[in-house]
Amino acid sequence: MLPDQADLDRAVALLQAGELVAFPTETVYGLGADAANPAAVSKIFAAKGRPPDHPLIVHLACDGGLEQWARDVPNNAWELAEAFWPGPLTLILKRSDAVPDAVTGGQDSVGLRVPAHPLALALLRAYALAGGGVAGLCGVAAPSANRFGRISPTEAGHVRDELGAAVPLILDGGRCEVGIESTILDLTPGAGRPPRLLRPGRVTPEQIGSVIGVLPEIVPRRMNDGAPRASGSLAAHYAPATPMRLVTTARLPEVVASLRQTGRRCAVLCHVRFSDDVEAAHAWRRLPAEARGYGRSLYAALRELDQTAADLIVVQETPDTPAWAAVTDRLRRAATGSGGGSSTA
Ligand code: TXA
Ligand code: MG
Repeated sequence: MLPDQADLDRAVALLQAGELVAFPTETVYGLGADAANPAAVSKIFAAKGRPPDHPLIVHLACDGGLEQWARDVPNNAWELAEAFWPGPLTLILKRSDAVPDAVTGGQDSVGLRVPAHPLALALLRAYALAGGGVAGLCGVAAPSANRFGRISPTEAGHVRDELGAAVPLILDGGRCEVGIESTILDLTPGAGRPPRLLRPGRVTPEQIGSVIGVLPEIVPRRMNDGAPRASGSLAAHYAPATPMRLVTTARLPEVVASLRQTGRRCAVLCHVRFSDDVEAAHAWRRLPAEARGYGRSLYAALRELDQTAADLIVVQETPDTPAWAAVTDRLRRAATGSGGGSSTA
């Protein structure tokens, strides 16, 4: 989908006026504002209902922007930017003086990425060409364009449904190709210590390791839980309003049958074919049995099932392999956030 120049011009004018613009990235839709303008950034928090201590990612047109927003940029950051940008990798670096507290939640670091969606890149480049925002800085702060704790949007319509009235312009770039949020890698531990993987995503630890020669330390879930550093790392996140539960493949037929017997409406999300009698659930969605295709459609499917007036969304557990790590992470958090529990029992 080619960007429409009139939409781009309007988007740039809104950003420069300190207003919000929602835009597609290759991962999920973002809710953007001039990252150098604290008043504009505060509108993001208000629209999302997000606590002010949760930091935002600053989106850049190219890796040259790193030096505007970060200081003491280590070599491995340049190597990773070269290898993966534009793309679904966010680097956490020491912040420069240009970064307002409103963006970082007062932390000494900042999250940066160059998104790969053509419309996002066209917007960021047009913004830079037009002189950028406050102080001539060219960064767009953008979290996922959903209400805090809810499912990230992967289509323009999702943003309209959830935030419509609060956002003056939503750029429509179709469905997001990756479908789950970027990998977040913390490069602040410093020389001699491996970077830390704060959120798994399409860019895997192995891919990162092959570029910088050291595997990132995977921050265990329990260390991460509740830490305001990364709201996407809270145990409860990305959640539908309907309670959701993860269930093993072996137990799924039995769980669906017993829910049906007790008269409860059950919506099922799976990735293999079950027998017709099992699939006679209230609502049923089967996603591709490989992680990329599954991740691409996951959030749209969860939104759909959330709107079927089911009492419970039952999700078939995904394989416990590296390829599925990011998807499984989102499913566990969604189950926890929904109040349905992540129990496989
Ligand atoms: O794919 C994505 O990353 C999408 C698109 C729009 O770029 N953005 C996104 O933003 O998922 P958000 O705000 O929903 O999640 C970003 C995560 C949050 O968990 C935030 O806490 C973390 O990045 N983050 C941002 N700056 C950070 C920092 N300085 N240190 C640690 N975590 C940070
Ligand atoms: Mg988010």
